Formats: sequence, C-alpha cells, structure tokens
Amino acid sequence: MTDRTAAHFYLDCDTGIDDALALAYLLATPRAELVGIGTVSGNVSAAGGARNTLDLLQLAGHPDIPVAVGAHHPQAGTFHGGAPHVHGSNGIGGVELPRSDREPIQATAAELLVQLAHQHAGELRVVAIGPLTNIAAALRLEPKLPELVAEITIMGGAALAPGNITAVAEANIANDPEAAAEVLAAAWNVTLVPLDVTMSNVLEERHRQELLATDHPVSQALGDMLGYYFGFYVDIFGRACSAMHDPLAAAIAVQGVELTVAPTVRVEVDTTSGPGRGQTVCDLRGQYLGFPDQRGARCRVVLELGEDFASHLLGTMQAAWLAEDSLDAAPVA
Ligand code: BDR
Ligand code: CA
Repeated sequence: MTDRTAAHFYLDCDTGIDDALALAYLLATPRAELVGIGTVSGNVSAAGGARNTLDLLQLAGHPDIPVAVGAHHPQAGTFHGGAPHVHGSNGIGGVELPRSDREPIQATAAELLVQLAHQHAGELRVVAIGPLTNIAAALRLEPKLPELVAEITIMGGAALAPGNITAVAEANIANDPEAAAEVLAAAWNVTLVPLDVTMSNVLEERHRQELLATDHPVSQALGDMLGYYFGFYVDIFGRACSAMHDPLAAAIAVQGVELTVAPTVRVEVDTTSGPGRGQTVCDLRGQYLGFPDQRGARCRVVLELGEDFASHLLGTMQAAWLAEDSLDAAPVA
C-alpha cells in the first residue's frame, strides 16, 4: 500500500496497546515504508513486545518486516515488570492474536537501527514510542547516527502538562531517564510528542465501535484491545475513551497531521534522583520573552494540533483496509 515516494521508517516500541495502534497506522499510511522494528522493555518486556509485534505484523499481512529484540533493562536499574494495569498482562489487553511463525532476528534493536541507518543513509526516519534505551545504545554503537538519520520523532515527556508516572515524568522518559538525556542531547532533528498533546487528543467509544464494526482482523483486534485500555482511562477522563500517545507520534513523524503550536526549544532531561527525575525540562520561556536566545535549541516540541486526530487515524487505517479488500476482490486477468 506504500507509494514509491514513501520515506523509510524504523520503529522502536514497547508493544503495548497504543503502540499497536501506531504500528497499524504506519502499516496503513502510504507515506511510510516500515523497514525495521526494535522492541524495548516498557509496557511489557522487550521479548514480549517483540512477540506482540510479530503477531500484529502477521495479522496485518506484513510478516517480512524484521523485528529485533532490544534492551531488557534500562541503563540504570532493572526492568520494573511493565504496566499490566494499563495494557494487560500480555501488553495488548489480554487479546490473543494468532501466533506468527516468525521469530525476532538475531541482531539487537540497536544493531538493526545502525544497519538500517547506513543502508538508508540520510533518509531513514526513526519513530521511538517506548523508553529510549535502544536509541541511546545505537548512538553509542554509531556516534555518526545523528548524521545518518533524517529525523527522529519521540513520544515522551511532558512540557507544561503533568507527568503520568510522577508529578513531572512521563512513562517513556521515566523508564530510562539516562537514555532519554543522551538521545535528547544528540545533534539530530528531533520532535518530541509529549503528554501535552497526546492527552488532549482522545479516541472515544464511538471510534472503538467503528473499529469493531469494520470487517478486518486488525481492526477487530484493535477494537478489543482498546476495550481494556479505555478501562484504565475511565478514572482519568471520567468516561470510556483513551489518550492516543503513540499513534499521534507516528502520524506526526509521517507529516500526516497539521501542527499549530510546535516551538523548537532546548529540552533537557532530569537524571537526578530527586522528585524531578525523568522530567523533560522544555525551555518555553520564549512564550514571555520572544525566544531571545535559542542557541543549541533543536527539539521541536508539539503542543497543539490543527485538526481532529481521531478522524485522521481511523480514516487512514480504514482506507488501507478497504483497498486490501478491493485488491482481494479484483478478478485475476
Ligand atoms: C507512553 O507510555 C506507554 O505506556 C505508552 O505506550 C506510551 O508510549 C505514554 O506515556
Ligand atoms: Ca509505547
């Protein structure tokens, strides 16, 4: 379904219900060709995330995309065991997908990223929707990575919004602040998609019902998974719906949505052991001061969208699923 001018993408994820949505979106959009996927411990273990990813790829009809298992533990400390209360004990809301017969490749996620960055030098785009452990490891393996990669889009952090793990820290950054600090300090084009924008663009129950009513196995699986995810968010939003963290980062990476507020500023990660640990400190003083000195500022922080994201997300996936149907139905010449 990708067009000839589609950009090449590497996805780093901790699959995860919203990761699954991001993956389905990237597979559906003609703007992206996914050339490799790495997994990292976060919502589930890196190995569990790889299994979910392989199974989803098979269900979506893309079993050949290489999947590499990445870091199990963060740079400091040990993997905390995941977020079963948010994503279910298997990471995808307890949904049992048909098991793919594919296995992860031998290379680690960091090795795969470096290899793809050389193969697609200057034009590979990275979407990171889990803790940044693999990306930091890749930077160590290949210090020229920022020159080889066209850009990196990261779901993570909180600029002006509260955190979702501590008062100030968002999960992907909180799970490995040291790695995040390294990644955000590297000299590449980076876009941060923080909680400010992912918590204010939600998927409603009517969207979930649309997915369940669509005759495609990926759509049904996503609808089922979201049932679990919505359960977690009821206490936060007061109704059955969910934030759209990872699919929004994927859509921003493929330039699928219009951004209305996205200043490029300095961002640093707090790696102290105090209450600020894991905070993304975004220098937004320019809102008062007119951004007097932005030397060293290279991180675009997305704060507002100019359109309804749920319609774009569902519309993109449904168009691809419909096109698959019409191909299947086309008479053989
Ligand atoms: C991020 O943490 C994970 O639970 C989600 O998959 C998303 O990447 C949101 O804070
Ligand atoms: Ca994620």
